Amino acid sequence: MTEPKAIAIDGPVASGKTVVGRLLAQRLGYRVLDTGLMYRAITWQALEDGVDLEDREGMASLVEEHDLEVRFEDGGEASIFLDNRDVTPYLRLPEVEQGVSRVARIPAVRDAMVARQRSIGREGQVVMVGRDIGTVVLPDAPLKVYLTAAVEERAQRRYKELQGLGTGVGYEQVLRELQQRDRLDLEREIAPLRPAEDATIVTTDGLNVRDVVEWVVSLLGKST
Ligand code: DC
Repeated sequence: MTEPKAIAIDGPVASGKTVVGRLLAQRLGYRVLDTGLMYRAITWQALEDGVDLEDREGMASLVEEHDLEVRFEDGGEASIFLDNRDVTPYLRLPEVEQGVSRVARIPAVRDAMVARQRSIGREGQVVMVGRDIGTVVLPDAPLKVYLTAAVEERAQRRYKELQGLGTGVGYEQVLRELQQRDRLDLEREIAPLRPAEDATIVTTDGLNVRDVVEWVVSLLGKST
């Protein structure tokens, strides 16, 4: 079996793509890049600099002014640096979470992120996770997987995660926010969330993560 250079994993919020991507990368000895972190980093910087997230020109300048770098640790996990400072710990903050879908709609931001993601893809040995990896970033990836699950199941997963973090957010609110983010991801003009034509679609309702990883590994042999 020839090893594919890059594996694309896409899917909606809480479809399991990040954890599947991470385990798959560990299993193969690949690096893993959750591309949502890059959009989150730009959002964090905009909040720091006081740039209005709806101001497309302001956001375009912000991307030019700051140096975003993806660094891979020894274990293959990515950290995001802005102007040489590791901002990874801030990327799950609620204010970043709330703003990031708006930032991800801005063409200049997407162009800059996609260019970096492609260059990482060219280096090979990477599992790249996102919304548009199979459709836009790495259309030639030899293996593309689109993970999905019913919105209620995804909301349950996210709700449990948040409970684990000790937040008092209720299930109904989690469900509403998730539906809102789905809508923004699905309906945006550029690179909306959708499976690539040649992606394998895996519905993860009721499946455990290890089963999904084994299933993807079984696809590897068929993809090359
Ligand atoms: O996967 P996530 O929740 O970290 O993604 C954050 C936001 O970035 C979400 O609104 C979708 C968007 N995103 C994107 O548009 N394209 C990607 N390749 C990854 C994330």
